[in-house]
Amino acid sequence: MQELENIVSDAEHAFKAVRTLPELDQVKARFLGKQGVLSELRKGLAKVSAEERPILGARFNSLKTEIESLLERRKHDINTEALQKRLDNEKIDVTLPGRKQSLGGLHPVTRTLNRVTDLFSTMGFSVASGPEIEDDYYNFTSLNQPEDHPARSMHDTFYLEGEQHLLRTHTSPIQIRYMEEHEPPIRIVAPGRVYRVDSDATHSPMFHQIEGLWVDDRATFADLKGTVREFLRRFFENDDLEVRFRPSYFPFTEPSAEIDMTFKDGWLEIGGCGMVHPKVLRNVNIDTERFQGFAFGMGLDRLAMLRYGVSDLRLFFENDLRFLSQFSD
Ligand code: PHE
Repeated sequence: MQELENIVSDAEHAFKAVRTLPELDQVKARFLGKQGVLSELRKGLAKVSAEERPILGARFNSLKTEIESLLERRKHDINTEALQKRLDNEKIDVTLPGRKQSLGGLHPVTRTLNRVTDLFSTMGFSVASGPEIEDDYYNFTSLNQPEDHPARSMHDTFYLEGEQHLLRTHTSPIQIRYMEEHEPPIRIVAPGRVYRVDSDATHSPMFHQIEGLWVDDRATFADLKGTVREFLRRFFENDDLEVRFRPSYFPFTEPSAEIDMTFKDGWLEIGGCGMVHPKVLRNVNIDTERFQGFAFGMGLDRLAMLRYGVSDLRLFFENDLRFLSQFSD
Protein backbone atom coordinates (compact mmCIF):
# COMPACT_ATOMS: atom_id res chain seq x y z
CA MET A 1 0.00 0.00 0.00
CA GLN A 2 2.86 2.28 0.82
CA GLU A 3 4.11 1.75 -2.69
CA LEU A 4 0.78 2.98 -4.07
CA GLU A 5 0.95 6.20 -2.06
CA ASN A 6 4.43 6.80 -3.49
CA ILE A 7 3.12 6.50 -7.01
CA VAL A 8 0.80 9.47 -6.47
CA SER A 9 3.51 11.69 -5.04
CA ASP A 10 5.98 10.54 -7.73
CA ALA A 11 3.46 11.54 -10.37
CA GLU A 12 2.81 14.82 -8.67
CA HIS A 13 6.55 15.64 -8.61
CA ALA A 14 7.08 14.55 -12.16
CA PHE A 15 4.15 16.68 -13.38
CA LYS A 16 5.38 19.70 -11.49
CA ALA A 17 8.86 19.36 -12.98
CA VAL A 18 7.77 19.94 -16.56
CA ARG A 19 6.99 23.32 -18.07
CA THR A 20 5.42 22.54 -21.41
CA LEU A 21 2.52 20.46 -22.72
CA PRO A 22 4.65 18.15 -24.92
CA GLU A 23 6.87 17.38 -21.92
CA LEU A 24 3.81 16.75 -19.83
CA ASP A 25 2.53 14.26 -22.41
CA GLN A 26 5.72 12.26 -22.09
CA VAL A 27 5.44 12.14 -18.32
CA LYS A 28 1.78 11.20 -18.62
CA ALA A 29 2.75 8.18 -20.72
CA ARG A 30 5.14 7.11 -18.01
CA PHE A 31 2.27 6.88 -15.48
CA LEU A 32 -0.92 6.37 -17.43
CA GLY A 33 0.33 4.94 -20.75
CA LYS A 34 0.01 1.35 -21.92
CA GLN A 35 3.41 0.48 -20.59
CA GLY A 36 3.11 2.91 -17.73
CA VAL A 37 3.37 2.38 -13.99
CA LEU A 38 -0.39 1.96 -13.55
CA SER A 39 -0.72 -0.63 -16.28
CA GLU A 40 1.98 -2.65 -14.59
CA LEU A 41 0.13 -2.41 -11.29
CA ARG A 42 -3.05 -3.57 -12.92
CA LYS A 43 -1.36 -6.69 -14.20
CA GLY A 44 -0.34 -7.37 -10.58
CA LEU A 45 -4.01 -7.26 -9.54
CA ALA A 46 -4.67 -10.50 -11.35
CA LYS A 47 -2.32 -12.25 -9.01
CA VAL A 48 -3.89 -11.27 -5.66
CA SER A 49 -6.46 -13.34 -3.83
CA ALA A 50 -10.17 -13.06 -4.54
CA GLU A 51 -10.86 -11.34 -1.20
CA GLU A 52 -8.16 -8.76 -1.61
CA ARG A 53 -8.95 -8.01 -5.24
CA PRO A 54 -12.03 -5.71 -4.80
CA ILE A 55 -10.25 -3.67 -2.13
CA LEU A 56 -7.11 -3.30 -4.16
CA GLY A 57 -9.19 -2.76 -7.28
CA ALA A 58 -11.04 0.13 -5.67
CA ARG A 59 -7.78 1.53 -4.38
CA PHE A 60 -6.27 1.26 -7.82
CA ASN A 61 -9.19 3.12 -9.39
CA SER A 62 -9.09 6.00 -6.92
CA LEU A 63 -5.34 6.19 -7.48
CA LYS A 64 -5.85 6.46 -11.18
CA THR A 65 -8.46 9.19 -10.78
CA GLU A 66 -6.16 11.06 -8.47
CA ILE A 67 -3.27 10.95 -10.95
CA GLU A 68 -5.59 11.96 -13.77
CA SER A 69 -6.85 14.96 -11.86
CA LEU A 70 -3.26 15.92 -10.93
CA LEU A 71 -2.47 15.75 -14.63
CA GLU A 72 -5.45 17.94 -15.55
CA ARG A 73 -4.53 20.46 -12.92
CA ARG A 74 -0.95 20.63 -14.18
CA LYS A 75 -2.18 21.01 -17.76
CA HIS A 76 -4.39 23.86 -16.68
CA ASP A 77 -1.52 25.52 -14.79
CA ILE A 78 0.82 25.24 -17.76
CA ASN A 79 -1.81 26.81 -20.02
CA THR A 80 -2.43 29.66 -17.61
CA GLU A 81 1.28 30.29 -17.22
CA ALA A 82 1.75 30.38 -21.01
CA LEU A 83 -1.17 32.75 -21.38
CA GLN A 84 0.15 35.00 -18.65
CA LYS A 85 3.57 35.02 -20.29
CA ARG A 86 2.05 36.03 -23.62
CA LEU A 87 -0.01 38.74 -21.99
CA ASP A 88 3.11 40.09 -20.31
CA ASN A 89 5.15 40.02 -23.52
CA GLU A 90 2.48 41.44 -25.78
CA LYS A 91 1.56 44.19 -23.45
CA ILE A 92 0.36 47.26 -25.32
CA ASP A 93 1.82 50.50 -24.13
CA VAL A 94 -1.15 52.81 -24.44
CA THR A 95 1.02 55.78 -23.53
CA LEU A 96 3.09 55.48 -26.75
CA PRO A 97 2.31 58.31 -29.16
CA GLY A 98 0.32 57.14 -32.20
CA ARG A 99 1.81 56.79 -35.66
CA LYS A 100 0.97 59.80 -37.76
CA GLN A 101 -0.89 59.37 -41.03
CA SER A 102 0.30 62.35 -42.98
CA LEU A 103 -1.83 63.62 -45.83
CA GLY A 104 -0.19 64.10 -49.21
CA GLY A 105 -0.35 67.41 -51.00
CA LEU A 106 -0.30 68.66 -54.56
CA HIS A 107 3.05 69.37 -56.18
CA PRO A 108 3.77 73.12 -56.41
CA VAL A 109 3.85 72.91 -60.22
CA THR A 110 0.47 71.15 -60.20
CA ARG A 111 -0.90 73.81 -57.88
CA THR A 112 0.41 76.48 -60.23
CA LEU A 113 -1.04 74.69 -63.23
CA ASN A 114 -4.46 74.48 -61.57
CA ARG A 115 -4.33 78.12 -60.63
CA VAL A 116 -3.35 79.16 -64.15
CA THR A 117 -6.07 77.13 -65.87
CA ASP A 118 -8.65 78.37 -63.33
CA LEU A 119 -7.73 81.97 -64.09
CA PHE A 120 -7.87 81.43 -67.84
CA SER A 121 -11.19 79.68 -67.63
CA THR A 122 -12.68 82.71 -65.86
CA MET A 123 -11.44 84.62 -68.92
CA GLY A 124 -13.33 82.34 -71.28
CA PHE A 125 -10.63 79.82 -72.23
CA SER A 126 -11.21 76.09 -72.25
CA VAL A 127 -8.43 73.59 -71.55
CA ALA A 128 -6.97 71.34 -74.27
CA SER A 129 -4.19 68.76 -74.24
CA GLY A 130 -2.06 66.71 -76.59
CA PRO A 131 0.50 63.89 -76.65
CA GLU A 132 4.00 64.30 -75.22
CA ILE A 133 5.43 62.09 -77.95
CA GLU A 134 4.96 63.98 -81.17
CA ASP A 135 6.13 63.64 -84.72
CA ASP A 136 8.03 66.11 -86.81
CA TYR A 137 4.93 67.42 -88.51
CA TYR A 138 3.11 68.59 -85.39
CA ASN A 139 6.14 69.78 -83.47
CA PHE A 140 7.81 71.61 -86.36
CA THR A 141 6.57 71.42 -89.96
CA SER A 142 2.93 72.39 -89.37
CA LEU A 143 4.21 75.27 -87.24
CA ASN A 144 6.02 76.70 -90.23
CA GLN A 145 9.37 75.08 -89.54
CA PRO A 146 10.17 72.84 -92.52
CA GLU A 147 13.02 70.39 -92.23
CA ASP A 148 15.94 72.64 -93.09
CA HIS A 149 14.52 75.62 -91.23
CA PRO A 150 17.26 77.24 -89.12
CA ALA A 151 14.80 77.87 -86.27
CA ARG A 152 14.69 74.12 -85.57
CA SER A 153 18.05 74.46 -83.91
CA MET A 154 16.44 76.84 -81.39
CA HIS A 155 15.23 73.68 -79.68
CA ASP A 156 17.58 70.88 -78.71
CA THR A 157 15.29 68.03 -79.38
CA PHE A 158 15.10 64.55 -77.87
CA TYR A 159 14.45 62.21 -80.79
CA LEU A 160 13.11 58.73 -80.28
CA GLU A 161 14.84 55.80 -81.97
CA GLY A 162 14.47 56.01 -85.74
CA GLU A 163 13.85 59.78 -85.49
CA GLN A 164 10.24 59.32 -86.59
CA HIS A 165 9.06 60.58 -83.24
CA LEU A 166 10.31 63.07 -80.71
CA LEU A 167 9.46 64.42 -77.27
CA ARG A 168 7.56 67.62 -77.92
CA THR A 169 9.79 70.64 -77.39
CA HIS A 170 6.87 72.99 -76.72
CA THR A 171 3.09 72.93 -76.26
CA SER A 172 2.51 74.62 -79.65
CA PRO A 173 1.71 71.33 -81.48
CA ILE A 174 -1.51 71.29 -79.43
CA GLN A 175 -2.55 74.42 -81.35
CA ILE A 176 -2.41 72.45 -84.60
CA ARG A 177 -4.16 69.39 -83.20
CA TYR A 178 -6.93 71.54 -81.76
CA MET A 179 -7.45 73.63 -84.91
CA GLU A 180 -7.61 70.45 -87.00
CA GLU A 181 -10.61 69.39 -84.95
CA HIS A 182 -12.35 72.69 -84.22
CA GLU A 183 -13.64 75.67 -86.18
CA PRO A 184 -13.06 79.23 -84.98
CA PRO A 185 -13.92 80.89 -82.70
CA ILE A 186 -11.24 79.09 -80.69
CA ARG A 187 -10.10 80.08 -77.25
CA ILE A 188 -7.97 77.49 -75.46
CA VAL A 189 -5.12 77.09 -73.06
CA ALA A 190 -3.06 73.89 -73.24
CA PRO A 191 -0.74 73.06 -70.34
CA GLY A 192 1.71 70.18 -70.30
CA ARG A 193 5.20 68.73 -70.05
CA VAL A 194 7.74 69.58 -72.70
CA TYR A 195 11.31 68.34 -73.24
CA ARG A 196 14.58 69.85 -74.33
CA VAL A 197 18.22 68.77 -74.06
CA ASP A 198 19.08 71.29 -71.39
CA SER A 199 19.99 71.17 -67.71
CA ASP A 200 21.10 73.75 -65.16
CA ALA A 201 19.66 75.72 -62.21
CA THR A 202 17.01 77.34 -64.40
CA HIS A 203 16.63 74.67 -67.11
CA SER A 204 15.48 71.11 -66.71
CA PRO A 205 15.30 68.53 -69.56
CA MET A 206 11.60 68.23 -68.71
CA PHE A 207 9.61 71.32 -67.87
CA HIS A 208 6.10 72.67 -68.19
CA GLN A 209 4.52 75.18 -70.50
CA ILE A 210 1.08 76.58 -70.98
CA GLU A 211 0.01 77.49 -74.47
CA GLY A 212 -2.75 79.97 -75.27
CA LEU A 213 -4.58 80.22 -78.56
CA TRP A 214 -7.34 82.62 -79.55
CA VAL A 215 -8.61 82.58 -83.12
CA ASP A 216 -11.70 84.38 -84.33
CA ASP A 217 -12.68 87.06 -86.83
CA ARG A 218 -11.29 89.98 -84.88
CA ALA A 219 -8.64 88.96 -82.33
CA THR A 220 -5.86 91.56 -82.43
CA PHE A 221 -2.44 92.13 -80.93
CA ALA A 222 -4.14 94.52 -78.49
CA ASP A 223 -6.31 91.60 -77.28
CA LEU A 224 -3.16 89.53 -76.89
CA LYS A 225 -1.52 92.21 -74.77
CA GLY A 226 -4.63 92.73 -72.67
CA THR A 227 -5.14 88.99 -72.13
CA VAL A 228 -1.56 88.28 -71.06
CA ARG A 229 -1.32 91.35 -68.84
CA GLU A 230 -4.64 90.65 -67.17
CA PHE A 231 -3.65 87.05 -66.55
CA LEU A 232 -0.27 87.96 -65.03
CA ARG A 233 -1.78 90.62 -62.78
CA ARG A 234 -4.36 88.16 -61.51
CA PHE A 235 -1.83 85.37 -61.12
CA PHE A 236 0.57 87.48 -59.05
CA GLU A 237 -2.28 89.39 -57.36
CA ASN A 238 -0.56 92.62 -58.23
CA ASP A 239 -2.41 95.36 -60.15
CA ASP A 240 0.77 97.35 -60.63
CA LEU A 241 2.55 94.57 -62.46
CA GLU A 242 3.77 95.81 -65.85
CA VAL A 243 4.15 93.68 -68.93
CA ARG A 244 6.41 94.43 -71.87
CA PHE A 245 6.21 92.92 -75.34
CA ARG A 246 9.70 92.79 -76.79
CA PRO A 247 9.94 92.20 -80.55
CA SER A 248 11.25 88.75 -81.31
CA TYR A 249 11.00 85.87 -83.73
CA PHE A 250 9.03 82.62 -83.79
CA PRO A 251 8.37 80.80 -87.05
CA PHE A 252 4.69 80.24 -86.21
CA THR A 253 3.80 83.84 -85.28
CA GLU A 254 4.14 87.13 -87.10
CA PRO A 255 4.73 89.58 -85.60
CA SER A 256 6.30 87.85 -82.59
CA ALA A 257 7.29 89.08 -79.18
CA GLU A 258 8.85 87.96 -75.93
CA ILE A 259 6.70 88.58 -72.87
CA ASP A 260 8.58 90.32 -70.06
CA MET A 261 7.13 91.32 -66.70
CA THR A 262 8.40 93.66 -64.02
CA PHE A 263 10.38 91.80 -61.40
CA LYS A 264 12.36 93.36 -58.57
CA ASP A 265 14.17 96.26 -60.26
CA GLY A 266 14.05 94.99 -63.80
CA TRP A 267 12.30 92.83 -66.38
CA LEU A 268 11.97 89.09 -66.45
CA GLU A 269 11.13 87.00 -69.51
CA ILE A 270 8.09 84.83 -68.88
CA GLY A 271 7.12 83.56 -72.36
CA GLY A 272 6.71 84.14 -76.06
CA CYS A 273 3.77 85.23 -78.17
CA GLY A 274 2.56 86.66 -81.44
CA MET A 275 -0.14 86.72 -84.06
CA VAL A 276 -0.63 83.23 -85.50
CA HIS A 277 1.24 83.06 -88.83
CA PRO A 278 -1.14 82.81 -91.83
CA LYS A 279 0.82 79.76 -93.06
CA VAL A 280 -0.03 77.97 -89.79
CA LEU A 281 -3.73 78.79 -90.20
CA ARG A 282 -3.63 77.57 -93.80
CA ASN A 283 -2.02 74.29 -92.66
CA VAL A 284 -5.20 73.58 -90.74
CA ASN A 285 -7.52 74.92 -93.46
CA ILE A 286 -8.61 78.04 -91.66
CA ASP A 287 -9.61 80.84 -94.03
CA THR A 288 -7.09 83.63 -93.39
CA GLU A 289 -9.35 86.15 -95.07
CA ARG A 290 -11.94 85.60 -92.37
CA PHE A 291 -9.98 84.58 -89.32
CA GLN A 292 -6.95 85.69 -87.41
CA GLY A 293 -5.65 85.13 -83.92
CA PHE A 294 -2.86 85.12 -81.43
CA ALA A 295 -0.92 82.57 -79.46
CA PHE A 296 1.31 82.65 -76.45
CA GLY A 297 3.42 80.20 -74.50
CA MET A 298 4.60 80.60 -70.92
CA GLY A 299 6.80 78.58 -68.61
CA LEU A 300 4.71 77.11 -65.80
CA ASP A 301 7.73 76.21 -63.71
CA ARG A 302 8.98 79.76 -64.03
CA LEU A 303 5.59 81.02 -62.81
CA ALA A 304 5.73 78.57 -59.88
CA MET A 305 9.29 79.62 -58.98
CA LEU A 306 8.28 83.27 -58.93
CA ARG A 307 5.10 82.73 -57.00
CA TYR A 308 6.73 80.57 -54.33
CA GLY A 309 10.14 82.25 -54.28
CA VAL A 310 12.07 79.14 -55.35
CA SER A 311 15.47 79.89 -56.85
CA ASP A 312 16.50 76.49 -58.22
CA LEU A 313 14.18 74.84 -60.75
CA ARG A 314 15.69 71.41 -60.06
CA LEU A 315 14.14 71.36 -56.57
CA PHE A 316 10.76 70.84 -58.22
CA PHE A 317 11.84 67.55 -59.74
CA GLU A 318 13.96 65.97 -56.99
CA ASN A 319 10.90 64.81 -55.05
CA ASP A 320 12.43 65.68 -51.70
CA LEU A 321 9.53 65.72 -49.25
CA ARG A 322 11.27 68.28 -47.02
CA PHE A 323 10.96 70.68 -49.95
CA LEU A 324 7.59 69.58 -51.32
CA SER A 325 5.72 69.42 -48.01
CA GLN A 326 6.19 73.17 -47.58
CA PHE A 327 3.63 73.72 -50.30
CA SER A 328 0.81 71.49 -49.06
CA ASP A 329 -2.03 73.05 -47.13
N1 PHE B 1 6.44 77.66 -78.48
C1 PHE B 1 7.30 78.79 -78.15
C2 PHE B 1 8.47 78.24 -77.34
O1 PHE B 1 8.36 77.24 -76.69
C3 PHE B 1 6.57 79.84 -77.35
C4 PHE B 1 5.48 80.47 -78.14
C5 PHE B 1 4.21 80.00 -78.08
C6 PHE B 1 5.75 81.58 -78.94
C7 PHE B 1 3.18 80.59 -78.80
C8 PHE B 1 4.75 82.17 -79.66
C9 PHE B 1 3.49 81.68 -79.58
O2 PHE B 1 9.55 78.81 -77.33
